[in-house]
Amino acid sequence: MRSLLALCVLATSVCAEENPDPAALKRLVHQDCGSCHGLTLKGGLGPDLRPQALSHYDVEVLSDVILDGIPETAMPPWRPLLTPSEADWIAQYLLQGETP
Ligand code: HEC
Repeated sequence: MRSLLALCVLATSVCAEENPDPAALKRLVHQDCGSCHGLTLKGGLGPDLRPQALSHYDVEVLSDVILDGIPETAMPPWRPLLTPSEADWIAQYLLQGETP
């Protein structure tokens, strides 16, 4: 199990085929993203991530921002932790603004 996880980190494309786990990703968004963007994503150190604030993004661009971060700012790249399909899921989740 542990080696599989390491493999996922090294070869995200392999794990991108797996289905994202919504419960785990929601938790990550509110706890990890929330540590900078606010627990309710209203903004903190990082800006507001509620749907109205992100309406100029589409899913692909938003997903890339999540995977690559924003250079020269505190927004970190999540590629080491998230697969592209998980980032897509989070992007969709943020744009929909569904409350868990
Ligand atoms: C260490 C603090 C920190 C964490 C953790 C963090 N962010 Fe950010 N994020 C920032 C900062 C600061 C900015 C603003 C960067 C700038 O000045 O453009 C930002 C910007 C963004 C933007 C662009 C917003 C816009 O209006 O253009 C998105 C989208 C975003 N973050 C999503 C996320 C997501 C999703 C997560 C969790 C997977 C996350 N962030 C975790 C600090 C953080």
